[in-house]
Amino acid sequence: MSKIWVGTNWKMTKTIAEGISYTKELKQIANKLTSDIELFIIPSHTALVDIKKEVSNSRIKIGAQNMHWEDTGAYTGEISPKMLNEIGLDLVELGHSERRQYSNENDTDINKKVVAALKYGMQPLVCIGENIQQKNNGISLEVLAAQLKVCLKGLTEVQAQQVLIAYEPVWAIGENGMPADAKYVGEIHSFLRGIIVELFPEVGNDIPLLYGGSVNLENFLEYIDHQDVNGLFVGRTAWNMETFTVILHELEKHLYQ
Ligand code: PGA
Repeated sequence: MSKIWVGTNWKMTKTIAEGISYTKELKQIANKLTSDIELFIIPSHTALVDIKKEVSNSRIKIGAQNMHWEDTGAYTGEISPKMLNEIGLDLVELGHSERRQYSNENDTDINKKVVAALKYGMQPLVCIGENIQQKNNGISLEVLAAQLKVCLKGLTEVQAQQVLIAYEPVWAIGENGMPADAKYVGEIHSFLRGIIVELFPEVGNDIPLLYGGSVNLENFLEYIDHQDVNGLFVGRTAWNMETFTVILHELEKHLYQ
């Protein structure tokens, strides 16, 4: 897989105005990239319509942070795939650990959302990851395999080709997160690749496997150097345009020159 994916989920951090100014800056940087890095941003729902306009004449892909799986219904506060499709999104992030933790999302819910996203032509970016107790109990591999199997249940090989996976260990995410060792990440990604190929023998090797969780200027090159790491899903370090620019420029130099 030659292409790499690099993107950021803004979480609940940017207003519409802040998002527009961030996107204008990112567009200038993106226009100068010569490699085929697949670049994406994931704004809050309120900013999607405006940010979609900003990225429409650029290489930047846009996604949502979550959605319901039903097209319509009595689900106060939810947003449907049909509504997101009306905006014209490229992807939708599903099952981030913060959604699992604070909104009790489980793998079965995420599976329904994956199917719904595919129905509307949005690429599901499915987040999986073990928490610290699971890691300390030595069951990371079992947990991750189960998450993958349930989240991707029932997909055909053709559907699976549209899926993106992000491995984000819960203990590595956010301000209190502990950056993961690159060797550990490499081993886990190889394991995940094996499970994906088992599930989808024809296309499993082509499904992008991104890494996320405290990706920063010190560690991003170590992560991307592993053959089964096909991209980076960056939080805080990408919210700041200066540091995100360093990552993009260095990746381009490192991988393509
Ligand atoms: P972080 O966030 O890079 O700030 O740890 C990663 C994520 O939650 O995807």
